Amino acid sequence: MANPAGAIGIFDSGIGGLTVAQAIHKLLPNEQLIYIGDTAHMPYGDKSPELIRKYATDISENLINSHQCKALVIACNTASAAAYEKLRDTFKGRLPVINVIDPMVEYIISQNNIKHVGIIATKATVASGVYQEKLARRKKELKFSILATPLLAPMIEEGFYNDNISSAVLHEYLSNDILKDIDSLVLACTHYPLIKNQINDFYNSAIPLLDSAEVVAHKLQYILQKENLLSQSRNNKDEFYVTDYSKHFAESAKIFYGEGLQLNKKSLA
Ligand code: DGL
Repeated sequence: MANPAGAIGIFDSGIGGLTVAQAIHKLLPNEQLIYIGDTAHMPYGDKSPELIRKYATDISENLINSHQCKALVIACNTASAAAYEKLRDTFKGRLPVINVIDPMVEYIISQNNIKHVGIIATKATVASGVYQEKLARRKKELKFSILATPLLAPMIEEGFYNDNISSAVLHEYLSNDILKDIDSLVLACTHYPLIKNQINDFYNSAIPLLDSAEVVAHKLQYILQKENLLSQSRNNKDEFYVTDYSKHFAESAKIFYGEGLQLNKKSLA
């Protein structure tokens, strides 16, 4: 079984998972994080489930075999939808695997004031039917409306946020009739919290926006505690890798994670 002194492995297709990494860092400052953004294959949202599973498996194996990670966080809804079950089964008995969808579903169903939840996500997440299936099964009376917003993650990755282009794209998506009458909105892609302020502006802050970063950090804390894997003191610095170096990733990562972030290129071959 895993070693409590090991690091937490976290991955996403790019910059989005940093929102999850940041929440974990805040809640569990003693834990070392090793982050991989798969920028060579970004966006995952328009890939087939088979290909996403392959990318997710390659990255996970690297985090576990080369970095001896003690827990794995799939900080991407698209990869969680396509690859969670495979990764959980592959690494069963070796280390816990946490996805970003289940903690969010738990949260939604626990909130009695949520009657009609809107969900925005990548095409692959919407097509997987994972949110739809889990919500319908867990809370029959809950109404949900899900919309694919495929331009958002690449737009953010390219550095378009807090500007007129991103506002226009968001306006187009959020005005869709599908999202009429929702009382809360799930940002079901880990990139979307990076444009939370703009989404809030669209709704004049009248709709609660739910993102998975904090609920996932708490879920990880719970699991590490249960498995006696919590680190008592920090010995090593966090490490951040990308599979293809991108200037936007480097800049945005610093904006969202702090100037001290040192970005390295990782080859998975
Ligand atoms: N950040 C990802 C997610 O949570 C995916 C973005 C993409 O690569 O399409 O779904």
